Amino acid sequence: MPEIVVLPHAELCPEGKTFEGTKGVSVLDNLLAQGIEVEHACEKSCACTTCHVIVREGLQSLPPATDDEDDLLDRAWGLTPQSRLSCQAVVEDAKLVIEIPKYTINQVKEGR
Ligand code: FES
Repeated sequence: MPEIVVLPHAELCPEGKTFEGTKGVSVLDNLLAQGIEVEHACEKSCACTTCHVIVREGLQSLPPATDDEDDLLDRAWGLTPQSRLSCQAVVEDAKLVIEIPKYTINQVKEGR
């Protein structure tokens, strides 16, 4: 089982968390199963970018992003070369270190 390390996020996971992830399941569903309520406004259909995460370690182990995911990611707040949409990135065997961005695109639109 792949280890998943979530870096601290002030609202969603203040202490950070390390857990045994489930292979074959998206990063988002792994986080939600741990009670880490990452936004997923389009219900995981690759249409919103609110589930954006930054994969600080283990990015290469994830299946590559589709063109649709890449197009959407361009709109994500705080985009980095290690960014993925967590609803689309399926966990494999490798350890992952996940950073949840401070804001989502929806929060930025709302002017938070
Ligand atoms: Fe909307 Fe992932 S939940 S793109």
